[in-house]
Parts: sequence; C-alpha cells; structure tokens
Amino acid sequence: DGTKRLSVDYVKGILQPTVTCDIWDEIWNFQAKPDDLLISTYPKAGTTWTQEIVELIQNEGDVEKSLEQAHAMPSPRILKTHLPFHLLPPSFLEKTIIYVARNPKDNMVSYYHFQRMNKALPDPGTWEEYFETFLAGKVCWGSWHEHVKGWWEAKDKHRILYLFYEDMKKNPKHEVQKLTEFIEKKLDDKVLDKIVHYTSFDVMKQNPMANYSSIPAEIMDHSISPFMRKGAVGDWKKHFTVAQNERFDEDYKKKMADTRLTFHFQF
Ligand code: PPS
Repeated sequence: DGTKRLSVDYVKGILQPTVTCDIWDEIWNFQAKPDDLLISTYPKAGTTWTQEIVELIQNEGDVEKSLEQAHAMPSPRILKTHLPFHLLPPSFLEKTIIYVARNPKDNMVSYYHFQRMNKALPDPGTWEEYFETFLAGKVCWGSWHEHVKGWWEAKDKHRILYLFYEDMKKNPKHEVQKLTEFIEKKLDDKVLDKIVHYTSFDVMKQNPMANYSSIPAEIMDHSISPFMRKGAVGDWKKHFTVAQNERFDEDYKKKMADTRLTFHFQF
C-alpha cells in the first residue's frame, strides 16, 4: 500500500520490531515488582480482552475507577508480553502470569488482518503469501506452535494460568470466575455478570479505552481493518481454501506431535 513500515529484526532467533530489539538488554533485565501481574499471549490471541477482564476484577467491576486508573497505572500493575517463554525476562518467573492461547487458524487470520492495518509490523502481502510466512514462523514473536507449547510446558513449574480464547467465548462467566480465583479476589455474582457485560466484544468495540481508536492512523489504520475486527471463533473458514486447510492440518500434526496440548476446534 506504499505506506512506510517500521523494520523488524531477530533477537535470539525470534523476529521482533527493531525498536524492541534495540533495547533487548533492558527488556531482559526488567525488574518486575512483587505484585506485578503479567498477561502473556501469542499476538492476537486475546491480550486486550484479558487485560480488560483483569482490570475490572481488580477494581471489583468499578468501570469508572478502571478508566481513571488506566492513566496512572497503579499497583498492582498489569503488564503484557508476546515473548516466547524461553525469552521471558527472569524477574517475571516467580510472578503471577496469565497465558491466553487461541486456535491457530483464527489466530493466523487475525494476525494477517492486524499486519495489514498496523504499520509497526511488516506488510503481510497476499493471504497466500502470509499463510506460508505464518507456518514458517517468520512473523514477529516467532512460531505459534513453539509459543503455545513453550508456555504449556512452563505452566506447571510456575504460577501460570493457561486459558483458551475459545473457552472465554463459550462460557465467559466461567473463565472470568477462574481468573478471579487465580488472582485471589472474591466477587459477587452480580459483579461477575457486570464484568462479563463490559468485556463482551460488542461493548469493548465501542470503548475507546479498549479499541485502540486513539492510536494515530499512520500507525494503526482502522479503515483497512479495525483492531476489534470480528471477535469470533471459526472465521478461518472464510479464509482457508480446502488445500490450505489440508496443508495446515498436516503441518500441525507434525509440529504438535510432541505435546499433550490440544486445541478445541474442528479440523
Ligand atoms: S494484540 O495486538 O496482540 O494485543 O491483539 P489481541 O488483543 O491479543 O487480539 C485481538 C483479537 O482479539 C479480539 N478481541 C475479542 N474477542 C472477543 N471478545 C472480546 N471482548 C475481544 N476483544 C478483542 C479482536 O477482535 C481480535 O480478533 P479478530 O479475530 O481479529 O477479531
């Protein structure tokens, strides 16, 4: 589309925007505070959604308070990362971590549209081209397969809650409850319902604090594809050809043969 894009580079074998590569030593030595809460995901797996839920749990469903505090970043801080587990700054290893995974087909589709609209990432090219780039793991933050497996292996050795985007869609209240317990809060049923309402796709899409509409169009062009795009499970079926689906499944079987981690979606 002719727009100037920021460059990307490899750090420890993982592709990242050059701006973060340049400060890698500082990232690696980042000192987490004792009560920091980290949300970790492969890009486009549900970071923003989970952040909104966790903020509202912390504030016991007080939407006004969440809004005021978003500017001030009070303690406990909620931080986000897309790093694969092996590149997580060591000071986070003992912290409370929430990992969210999304089925790879929808994840790929979401990432493709995001790279179209986000000038901080490389132009994805055509869908056909992107399909190959994604399977080769030549996207920022590396291979989806390695990412979900690495965090899955780490989850029993550290304080990590491993969630799935599809479960959050299917039974949001149950997942919000799980998150509430994990971060050791107690909330009334009414508050849980309120949180589920405010973190639904339709409400978040209209929420300027959550929908990234304040980011300048030179960086994120929502007219190409909105950040809050579909928020659905199964949109991949509108993108994958039959041949791509077969190729994907074959590749998936090979790459996921060495893990017990399974994804609840129809192949
Ligand atoms: S990022 O850029 O990595 O932080 O993106 P991330 O927030 O992880 O993922 C964006 C996708 O999540 C969808 N989304 C939601 N789905 C359901 N419910 C809610 N509340 C919600 N909020 C965000 C968003 O629409 C992106 O997915 P797609 O499939 O592109 O719509």
